[in-house]
Parts: sequence; structure tokens; C-alpha cells
Amino acid sequence: MMIKPKSSRLAPYVLDLEEGSHIWCGCGLSKDQPFCDNAHKGTEYEGQEKVAMLFETETDKTVALCGCKETKSPPYCDGAHKSL
Ligand code: FES
Repeated sequence: MMIKPKSSRLAPYVLDLEEGSHIWCGCGLSKDQPFCDNAHKGTEYEGQEKVAMLFETETDKTVALCGCKETKSPPYCDGAHKSL
């Protein structure tokens, strides 16, 4: 069963990311939002789908990463925060 994530905020994090690998926090517990800091370890979120989501950026670019954790297109904001 999927446990409801905690929203770190009801808006995306718009960031300039460097090319490479990043890990998005899907549980909302990380203190390093919107990135995973392993705060999910040892909690009910450990092992949940999309809790620590590895994603790649192929070039340096500006992204809008979901902060509400309710997006259907993780790690990116899909506008779901507007209806929370
Ligand atoms: S911040 Fe989650 S969908 Fe926009």
C-alpha cells in the first residue's frame, strides 16, 4: 500500500541543475529539499515506490521539481499542487 507523502511545500522548486544524476525526495522528509537525504531510511517510507527517485539531466538546465509530492510525473511538477 502506498503511504501518502508529506508535502515539503505546495509549489515546485525551480532550480538550475548541472548535467548528471540527482535523487529527488518523494516522501517529503528530507531536510535537503527537493533532494533525498536518506531521511526515509528506517521510516514507513523505506522501500516505497518513488521515495528516492534517481533521475538524469543530460545537459545543464532549469527544472521545476515537485515540492508537494503529489505529481503524477515525478520528479517534475505537473501542476497537481494547484488543486491541493
Ligand atoms: S509542486 Fe507538486 S505538482 Fe507542482
